Formats: sequence, structure tokens, C-alpha cells
Amino acid sequence: MSVEHEIENLLHEQRRFAPSKDFVASAVAKPELYEKAKADRLEFWADQARKLHWHKPFTQTLDWSDAPFAKWFHDGELNVSYNCIDRHVEAGWGKRVALFFEGEPGDRKVYTYLDLLKEVKKAANVLIKLGIEPGDRVAIYMPMIPEAIIAMQAVARVGAVHSVVFGGFSADSLASRIQDAGAKLVITADGGYRKGKASALKPAVDEALANGNCPSVENVLVVKRCGNEVDWDKNRDLWWEEEMAVADAEHVAQGFNAEHPLFILYTSGTTGKPKGILHTTGGYLTQASYTHKNVFDLHEGQDVYWCTADIGWITGHSYVAYGPLANGATQVIYEGTPDSPDWGRWWDIVQKYSVTILYTAPTAIRSFMKLGRTVVSHYDLSSIRVLGSVGEPINPEAWMWYREVIGSNNAPIVDTWWQTETGAIMISPLPGITQAKPGSAQVPLPGIEIKILDDDGHPVDKGHGGLLAITEPWPSMLRGIWGDPERFKETYWSKFEGIYFAGDGAKFDEDGDIWLLGRVDDVMNVSGHRLSTAEIESALVSHAYVAEAAVVGAKDETTGQAVVAFVILKRSALDGLGSEADTSKILREHVAKEIGPIAKPRTIFVVAELPKTRSGKIMRRLLRDVAEDRPIGDVTTLADTSVMDTISGRMSQGASD
Ligand code: WT7
Repeated sequence: MSVEHEIENLLHEQRRFAPSKDFVASAVAKPELYEKAKADRLEFWADQARKLHWHKPFTQTLDWSDAPFAKWFHDGELNVSYNCIDRHVEAGWGKRVALFFEGEPGDRKVYTYLDLLKEVKKAANVLIKLGIEPGDRVAIYMPMIPEAIIAMQAVARVGAVHSVVFGGFSADSLASRIQDAGAKLVITADGGYRKGKASALKPAVDEALANGNCPSVENVLVVKRCGNEVDWDKNRDLWWEEEMAVADAEHVAQGFNAEHPLFILYTSGTTGKPKGILHTTGGYLTQASYTHKNVFDLHEGQDVYWCTADIGWITGHSYVAYGPLANGATQVIYEGTPDSPDWGRWWDIVQKYSVTILYTAPTAIRSFMKLGRTVVSHYDLSSIRVLGSVGEPINPEAWMWYREVIGSNNAPIVDTWWQTETGAIMISPLPGITQAKPGSAQVPLPGIEIKILDDDGHPVDKGHGGLLAITEPWPSMLRGIWGDPERFKETYWSKFEGIYFAGDGAKFDEDGDIWLLGRVDDVMNVSGHRLSTAEIESALVSHAYVAEAAVVGAKDETTGQAVVAFVILKRSALDGLGSEADTSKILREHVAKEIGPIAKPRTIFVVAELPKTRSGKIMRRLLRDVAEDRPIGDVTTLADTSVMDTISGRMSQGASD
């Protein structure tokens, strides 16, 4: 079936799931939210912002005079960590559980809000002792353990800026992020548990910093998680536990300007160099907390919320480290993978902690769906009352499975569309209001203005598709790309004048609901993670064997898309090489080493030529046809039209594993 056909079928989705009467009666979000936001959008956001604690109240909501560089609440001052922790303790909720930590080996730890406050204050003092000042950058390269969240909160508390680098990224990727941000400190762990084994992290930090490669780094603070042997540079490295043990217990959180930077998070773009997406404090925390409360229907003090994302991604920032804590929520964090020791692990956790709100990715849902219902049926999931999905379009089949098997046919599903750049959820049903439709993210949240535009920038009507655009600034929007204002303007604001271009295709159905259709640029989405074709191509050509490479994202049943690479080998390499399978293995390992295991191509095809236009641009569209085993599309713009015959001939012999 062609892609167009599949989309047409989706758009005729007839199923609707209304929230139950009980759910509606006690829902956090009421229909008035839409009315209020419509009546006065800026005042609506100011109202949301006033729910935070301001050291100094703001008087101006939005300053857009220097567009696209927004300032929200910019004459106000606040402290993010005070908002996430202190104020709940001061309100008398110190005994409420903030974090239920479940380690992969089965160890457990519980932190109340008071516990968290004590830890974060000490950690803030450790940072100060190490000379970290407001505005300094701190890289965090950690497993999913409580100290990761404590570290983020402590950095925010002292007004420094964190750059969390996903623990699955390679030493090279870590180094380039440290260099780009000029980080003064790296916080890491000896290792973390993954798939039943201790997986070391500190060696990657050592490698990243070796030979004066990252001169900005003065210290490395190391949490002891696995007790594995680590190399030690006594002039640079410090144990977290030892520093915490002697740290001052008291730390008074000071207010910082609402536009003070909070974090940089690197994400892949269309070039080989990741973009350091910059977020600031006031607007970010306003929208992260507002969306967390309303989209997930959070009843604090009652709900147990679990988002399965790692802190290395934006979801782990907005919906683990910040939004839930700002709302005084009780949440579960889990260190390991869903299949350790077996595929029942997540459902065991849901049962054990009586999780009521679960937020995860379609790729995980599809993996469970493939295994069948039996795995899940051994556990009591009756505590679940809201389900969330994020990271990529969720196909109606997976949506229905999620609803029936995990949500007992009862829990509303919220399919949340957003991006690293948007900082918080932008398009989503509201669980007590929206009649849910399988597969569609449906409607912009109150306060958010979305349009779908055609190539000329004209809005399309119901029943039509185009490019997703955000037409008004929003509080948690990115404030720029670290160190590269021109790239910021060029990437997001140049396609349509004054309008944010998201890079996603989208379509309105006849009801006016939004369906997301995937990226329209050279960005892939593998298991809900963003990967750049250019970045992987440059990793491939950095190998001595490879003359040229082209990478495409091909449809994959479980991961949404999969990385497929086409490589031309150097003549000099050909003689020395073994079978194509060996070559493929070597190159896949090379990509893992250069970027990280998540970027490893699923399949590598060795080809003699690549399809190019007369101006030398690789026609990825045609390679995607090959990779997805479709008839090859229009080849008339190719410089050499016979190239595709050769490539598709090779296809049947392609090597993969
Ligand atoms: C890209 C952003 C948002 C946190 C995780 C990914 C895709 C995200 C959805 C959704 C369809 C989605 C888009 C977007 N995406 N959520 N609910 N339905 N597509 O963050 O790495 O910044 O990637 O993920 O293509 O542009 P990210």
C-alpha cells in the first residue's frame, strides 16, 4: 500500500473514545481553559506563570520585539529548583514521595520532597565549592538514577546551565557537546545497570577529556553506582559521595531572571553538527508544569506518575526532572531496559507502585504488542487511569492495543506532539475533554496556535495537508541555538516569515483534527529518537574504507524508522576486505563508536554508485524507495538514470543483521 493510501485510510478513522462521566467530573482540565486562552492568550499564560513562586513578580508577559528571540515574563525572577522542591516542603508536603527509584538489579530507594531538598541543597553547595557560578555550563552524563535528577536540580538551583548527554552516546559525541558548550564540570557515574550488567560510563568521559581535548573541563564528579573499577585522575576527579558527605546542608535558593538560561540539550539537525537547543527558566517551567498537570490530569498527592524516558532526552527533562516536580507529583524512575530480567519488568513496576499515569513511546508499545498479551496478563494494571504517547506518530493499531491491553479499555490516551525545541507539549487531546481518536494528536493545547501551511505559506483547510507551523510564540519555546543565532533563524524562522517551522508534515482531517505525518527534512526518527542522516553519513565516511555514503530512514515495524546506509567503498579497501557481512559489521561498529549504538545502521548496502542530481545532490527519496522495497519513483532528474537499476539489482544481495 502506498504511503498516500495509508494516510487516506487513517483520515477516515471512525472510532471515537469519550472520557467516562467519572473522569470528566473530576478532571483537572475543564473546557474553560480553551475559552480563557482564546479570550486573551497572553493573560492566559500569565495566569499559568503566576502558579509558580516568583522571587520577584513579573509585570510584562511577552516581549517579542526582537523576534525570533522571545522574552517571557522577563522582568520577573524565580528559582527553578525552589519551585520544584522547596515550596512543596514549605507548604507542608515534605513527607510526600517525590521519587520511587527502581534500579535494574531490583534495588529500590524512596525520596520524599524533604529528602530531595536536603540532597539538592548539598549538591548545590558541592557545585559552588567547585567554583560553578551562574551561567557556567555543566555536562551531565549519567544513568537513570536519582542522582541524575538531583544533579540537574542542583545545577538549576545555583543558576548554572546543564547539558545532559544521553549515556548511550559515544565518547566522541560527548566530547563535541562538552566543547561546544564549554562545560566546566562533568557529572557522571562509574556506570549504570543495563540488561543485567554493569555498563561503564566513566571510561567514555576519560576518553572524551583525554589529551587536553576538552580544555574547559576542570573537574569530573563521579557517582558510585556499580562499584566497577575506574581510572582516576586525582587532580580532576572527585567522588560524588565524598563531596556530598562534607557539603554544607543549608543553601538558600536565590531568584534568577526569568530569561536566565536553564539548559542546553543537543539534538540532531539536517547537518552533521548537532544543535544545542537553549531553554530558559520562567517560560519553560510555566509550560512544562501547566502541560504536565493538564495533559496527564495530575491529582497531586493521589497519582503515581511514570514517564519511561531517559533524562538524556527532552522528555526526561520536561516530564521527569522538571514538570512533575514543579507540580509536587509522586513519580517512578527506572534505571534499566524493559526486557530485564524479562519483558514483564515494566508491568511489574506498574503493579508494584500502583502507577496511575504512564507516559511512553509508540516504539515500546509496538514491541510489547509483538510479544502478545500473555506477558502483560500476569500483572495487575488496574491502577492505570491515563496513558500518554510521545516521540513519533502512533499507528491506530498500537493505539488500540495500548488502550485495550494496558489501559483496560478505560484509560484515556493522550498522544502528545512536541519537540526538543518546543520544550513542552504543544498538540494533544485533554483527557477529560477530547473525544479521543486513535492515531491522531488532534488539537493544539489551550494557549498554542498551530496552522498547517502549504509550500507558499498559505494555511490549508480541513481535509488538506502541508507543513506544521506554530504561528504565535509560546512560553517554553527554544531561545536559540547555543552559539549560533544565524542557524537558529535559518532553521526555524526563514521558511515562513515570523512563523516557526517545525519540520513535520501534517494533515487536518474533516473534523479539523491534526495527524502528524513525520519529518519533511533529512532527519530520521528511530524509536522516537531524532537522528540526522548527515551525521551518520559523516561518521561512515570517516572510516578508512568508505569513499561515499548516503543514509535514509526506512519504515520499520517496531522502531518507526530504521537507519539504512548505502556506501561506496574505496578501491584501495576492496582488496583487503572480507565478505560484505564483515564489512557491514565493521561499519556498524564504527558508527556506534563515532556517535553511539542508537545510530548504528540496521542495514548497510555496498553499492558502486549513488543516485545524484546533475548538481550532485543525493536523491534520498529514491534510496528510500529501495530501502522500503517499493517501485522506484521518478528518476528523470538523475544525472545518470541507469544508477537506480544497478542499485536495486544489488538490493537483493544486501547485507544486514
Ligand atoms: C520530533 C521531535 C517530543 C519529545 C520526544 C522527541 C516527532 C514527537 C510526536 C507525536 C508524531 C511526533 C516529530 C517531532 N514527534 N512526538 N506525538 N506524533 N510525531 O523529541 O527528538 O525533539 O523529536 O519527534 O517528528 O518533530 P525530538
